[in-house]
Amino acid sequence: MNHILVTGGAGYIGSHTVLELLKLGENVVVIDDLSNSSKESLNRVETLSGKAVTFFEGSILDQDLLVNIFSQFSFSSVIHFAGHKAVGESVNKPLSYYHNNVQGTVSLVEVMEKFNVNNLVFSSSATVYGEGAKPPYIETQTLGCPTSPYGQTKLMVERILADVVRSNSDFKVANLRYFNPIGADESGQIGEDPNGIPNNLMPFVAQVAVGKRAELSIFGNDYATEDGTCERDYIHVTDLAQGHVAALNWLVNQAHGLCEAFNLGTGTPYSVLKIVKSFEQYTKVKVPFKFVPRRDGDLDAFWANADKAADKLNWQAHKTMQDMMEDTWRWQSNNPNGYNA
Ligand code: NAD
Ligand code: UFG
Repeated sequence: MNHILVTGGAGYIGSHTVLELLKLGENVVVIDDLSNSSKESLNRVETLSGKAVTFFEGSILDQDLLVNIFSQFSFSSVIHFAGHKAVGESVNKPLSYYHNNVQGTVSLVEVMEKFNVNNLVFSSSATVYGEGAKPPYIETQTLGCPTSPYGQTKLMVERILADVVRSNSDFKVANLRYFNPIGADESGQIGEDPNGIPNNLMPFVAQVAVGKRAELSIFGNDYATEDGTCERDYIHVTDLAQGHVAALNWLVNQAHGLCEAFNLGTGTPYSVLKIVKSFEQYTKVKVPFKFVPRRDGDLDAFWANADKAADKLNWQAHKTMQDMMEDTWRWQSNNPNGYNA
């Protein structure tokens, strides 16, 4: 029986993707060291889907564990989410990021090759387009130089995977470049549960709304955008999860080894202020905010050209801004403390 291995599957995007896979009847094995997640996410995914997940608690850096897992299951493919993702933290702890994200991927791919598992979907990021790129970002443009060590790890892994494909004509890779994932499964049972103070906009907005934080600080209102706040391409996490399913389906049907990148975004930018106003409009909950100076490293505006994913993967985002806001709020208001009830 074929299985799909999902690394980092207990995390935010991973848990939503596991749910979509289980709903389609796939057999899923997850490895996660729970360094930024809780096993409770997978308990809830099992309840929502009515199907069990096989879970291994451990790191992809642990090759003995990987070999043990690969010996027990016949994997058709791997979806690789496991990694550290805090941009600011990566500036202070670069070695931890290079070790976990780059060496972790090398460790995983070595074991995949050993067991002749040839399909890999990798969580990349729009950050690989670097600072100087002009939006909308398109896969054919030359990649830039990401400012953070986190961004560098994504670029390095993409390059490593391209080299693996050059050396192994059976190996197939889809690098999915996410834009800004937000929202939660419409059940309100799983969602984003950051440790400590959220770095990202949407969980911060949600925590202000639920009364955990007094007000949102909006970083900068003097950018070269319509209302002066930064613009991003926010994509519903369920659309993103379905993008992984589409990429897997496409990948397994390719005849030869390849390494292809796909932008997963909506193609429409929204400003920080627009997000706050939309949240208030659709949830009827006020989000007090103040403007503070710019955050280091933020770009004015970027969004995706998502045509390639539409053409090749037959995928596009369907959820609306209203869905993103209502689903975020359903998750946050039902689970004010995330998975720690
Ligand atoms: P997340 O932190 O919720 O999920 C990552 C999961 O990987 C966590 O459950 C964590 O415990 C696990 N993990 C970390 N290191 C591990 C290791 N060595 N071995 C096993 N498990 C490990 O983050 P997410 O938002 O779900 O992101 C998933 C992936 O997508 C990450 O690679 C991230 O860099 C990438 N990504 C995220 C965003 C975003 O805005 N959320 C944007 C672009 C790319
Ligand atoms: N913002 C605030 N206040 C906050 C948090 C964020 O004003 O408390 C603003 C930021 O300044 C930015 C926008 O909200 O203008 C979005 O910020 P996020 O931190 O949510 O997202 P980023 O676009 O900075 O980062 C995201 C991913 C990274 C990825 C990057 C580039 O989180 O993983 O996109 O693709 F590297």
